[in-house]
Amino acid sequence: MKRIYKAHILFTKQKDHFEVYENGYVAVDDSGRVTGVASCLDELDSEGAEIVDFGNRLLIPAMNDMHVHAPQVHNQGVAMDLELLPWLQNYTFPEEAKYADTRYAERMYRRFLHTQWLFGTMRSVVFGTVHTESTRLLMQLYQEAGMGALVGKVAMNRNCPEALCEDVKEAVEGNERLIAEFNKPDALVRPIITPRFVPSCTPELLQACGELAKKYRLPVQSHLSENKSEIAWVAELEPDSENYGAAYDQYGLFGQTPTIMAHCVWTQGKELELMRRNGVMVAHCPTSNFNIASGMAPIRTFLEEGLHVGLGSDISGGHDLNMFRMLVYAIQVSKMQYQQNHDKAFLTLPEIFWIATKSAGSFFGKVGSFEPGYEFDALVIDDEVLHPDEYSLLHRLERFIYLGDDRQILHRFCRGKEVPEPR
Ligand code: GUN
Ligand code: FE
Repeated sequence: MKRIYKAHILFTKQKDHFEVYENGYVAVDDSGRVTGVASCLDELDSEGAEIVDFGNRLLIPAMNDMHVHAPQVHNQGVAMDLELLPWLQNYTFPEEAKYADTRYAERMYRRFLHTQWLFGTMRSVVFGTVHTESTRLLMQLYQEAGMGALVGKVAMNRNCPEALCEDVKEAVEGNERLIAEFNKPDALVRPIITPRFVPSCTPELLQACGELAKKYRLPVQSHLSENKSEIAWVAELEPDSENYGAAYDQYGLFGQTPTIMAHCVWTQGKELELMRRNGVMVAHCPTSNFNIASGMAPIRTFLEEGLHVGLGSDISGGHDLNMFRMLVYAIQVSKMQYQQNHDKAFLTLPEIFWIATKSAGSFFGKVGSFEPGYEFDALVIDDEVLHPDEYSLLHRLERFIYLGDDRQILHRFCRGKEVPEPR
């Protein structure tokens, strides 16, 4: 059934500029794709279409969380008194070890998905754990929910507790089981190859990950240049690599298939150049970078250099699953950087909105905009409690981003389908 939605429509076709349709219309076809957006109904082919009127509400693209650890949800908002490496050993690995138990995993994963749903995150790039069964469960839950996700069974076999260590053969077999079950063209939920980070993976395991990505043409996610001690450790472990990124690159894990790297706080010079050349996307995770004291990623520089950038919550290094707040944090970090270095302009609201929607969404295909051909991933925002009549449409959106929460999100759509509250 073709549908036409009427509301105040806002999205970012281009960086640094909002498209605004006051009392506008967006048409969506059977396949869930946008066929047109207009100020007048006459401009759209409305024959046979059902018209759904959202009145004085805002209609905007849904959120994309480009880096998040679902099995860290129990640690959300606690244990942020250490930097990355001791934080992993003391808090994160012990929590992830619990996911050997699929009943525990189910309880936590349902809680996690429900929170993502509340905040209007319709697509995610997700780390599971090393456990194949729990990761399968997470993928099934996303499928049942009707929310899009690239989900990774984590590969790790060194510098971690015995319970999270898997040999290379087991890692490949577990991945291949999930690939056989979930790697369907056009599926909303698909596998992603997920070496945890260089210190957790032997060269043999990194090699095997690269081969899996190539063989099944799967995307890749990992962590890159997050923390100074981590970077020094990688230099010891991979002395022949010119930089941290090059260590992934030699195993086919750096843009040979679509690749996203979390953090890149300290990425510069040749590593940055390699990311640009290979089209590797940055998942910027500002709350995580504050909480575990990693630093401030140079996002303005990345944009100037033409890198692809998206935003991630990085629970539980990050504490907040509300991606709208992540836009605010990202702007705030860029303003701190601006105070230190006035030759770099801070990020504007349309820039960060574009990063969070259209730029991030490109990792999933045509997602994150309402231009024709884009998958209709959308949120209907009822900002009545925020006194909408006193503000312009752009200020209404800004106030929702800064002050709003799940209570103002009235409807959520992923690929054209309304997504009901997950059970
Ligand atoms: N590097 C390797 N593993 C992790 C993780 O779980 N969280 C973060 N923030 N960085 C990592
Ligand atoms: Fe992470």
